[in-house]
Amino acid sequence: MKTKKIVIDPITRIEGHLRAEVELDENNIVKDAFVSGQLFRGIEIILKNRDPRDAGLLAGRICGVCTNSHFRGAVSAVEDAYHIQIPKNAEIIRDLMAMALFIQDHVVHFYHLHLLDFVDVTSALGADAKLTTKEAHKYCSKPFRNSHSHYETVLQKLSNFVNAGKLGPFSNGYWGHDNYILTPEQNLILLSHYLEALKFQTNISKAIAIFGGKIPHPQSIVVGGVTSVADMLNPQRLNDYMFIIKEAKDFIDRAYLPDMKLLAIAYKDEIKAGLGRANGNFLCVGGYKFDSDQRLFCNGVIYEHNFTQIEEFDENKITEEVDRAWYNEKDEPFYTDLNDDGSLKTAKNDDKYSWIKAPRYDGKTMETGPLARVLISYSKDNKLIKSFVDDFLNDTDMTLLDLSTTIGRNCARAIESEYICEYIFKLISRLIQNIKYYDTDTWAKYDFNSCEQNTKGRVFLEVPRGVLSHFVGIKDAKIENFSVIAPTTWNATPRNFDGKRGAYEEALIGIKLSDPQKPLEVLKVLHSFDPCLACAVHIIDSKGKDLGRYKV
Ligand code: NI
Repeated sequence: MKTKKIVIDPITRIEGHLRAEVELDENNIVKDAFVSGQLFRGIEIILKNRDPRDAGLLAGRICGVCTNSHFRGAVSAVEDAYHIQIPKNAEIIRDLMAMALFIQDHVVHFYHLHLLDFVDVTSALGADAKLTTKEAHKYCSKPFRNSHSHYETVLQKLSNFVNAGKLGPFSNGYWGHDNYILTPEQNLILLSHYLEALKFQTNISKAIAIFGGKIPHPQSIVVGGVTSVADMLNPQRLNDYMFIIKEAKDFIDRAYLPDMKLLAIAYKDEIKAGLGRANGNFLCVGGYKFDSDQRLFCNGVIYEHNFTQIEEFDENKITEEVDRAWYNEKDEPFYTDLNDDGSLKTAKNDDKYSWIKAPRYDGKTMETGPLARVLISYSKDNKLIKSFVDDFLNDTDMTLLDLSTTIGRNCARAIESEYICEYIFKLISRLIQNIKYYDTDTWAKYDFNSCEQNTKGRVFLEVPRGVLSHFVGIKDAKIENFSVIAPTTWNATPRNFDGKRGAYEEALIGIKLSDPQKPLEVLKVLHSFDPCLACAVHIIDSKGKDLGRYKV
């Protein structure tokens, strides 16, 4: 059998530098895939020998997108090391910042990073504005900005782009590709929302900045709590935050969710064929308190799509390997270069091919992220999310297994955005209730000089793209080592000594390319995971190795 290989490097519309090499059979079906993180990062080195109280501000710089997640993660790991319990209000404020980031991330991912894998801009130019208003009503009773004149304006904007020969954000697409199946009217609806989502992106950043001080690098989280006490006590600030979330919810309910329904119905055949499905292992560490025994996300582990048997998450089952990653046995960077023809060295079992390390749960590769959260929380009967999932599945004639696909991954993100808005409203009323009863603490007093000089801590958090863990080792009151496993580290993992593929690689197997010169189908699968490569690549020094296999 003759195979051919295609290489996409770099993959764009993601954060960071990702390369994919896929092997196709004579029918252009993907038989094997290797994905590689191509950029070395070394933030952990900068953290060494620093004051542990500065860990958050430095770790926030791991990524320009997931700033808030790493900021909070590092501070929480230090709090764990010092056994500091933060006040309730501090936790709510951290959660309000985190939840706003979830919906910002999901909306920006779908419209600005992923949408053009589904939408043909040139086709939208042929849409009829009147028919478009009718089409939008199929997926929502009150569609977002659904007027004849609005669509005319969008069409005018698009044709100005095209006539000026400057497609701007829409340049370099595979326009006219066979895999684009939406009608001109459907394309126009989605493109109209692409433009509206730019405003959404700006506004939701303001919501995070209300409690964070600024964005993208918030300043307000400190070891022991938060500094945003004046914002919390100012009714105008709370009101501003609520107003932005209400507007965001309006866009999610009337544009984002209906758009996902549109895609789920249009791409029904792809969904039923299971396109983009990985190996069915899912991990969620749970979190975000609602009351003493309820969380927004349930923790759990699913193996091979067995939704009826969910294991409890056990942090002792996490390991990290470097057999196929560019590190030596001491975990020092060890780059082995590419083959002479520029391809990755992947052929032999022991060839290294990525800067991303290989985290495993009980020896297995895992998929983490919105899909894992939805599947695990739903299967564990989580009341905060169940009805939202049921409604979506009913409206689109999908099953739980159908969600484990390229399109389904996006559906999970939209469903999650919807129930996160509801959760935010609950959090805010809890915060107001606390203030009403004169509970205004936002910081737990501690004396740094009497904290343990030699200690270690860790935290496991759900963040927009999935499971994030931070580990810190402290010696003589200074950071001795620091280690991170980010969501994309799990999903974009290279192989291990056992040769098993990670979620990205597995999801590509069986995908048929209609034109190998224009590998749109490959991009679609990879984009559905919302890759963040800046976050994914981490080193730990030889002393840090034990910490990477942290045991409680
Ligand atoms: Ni990131």
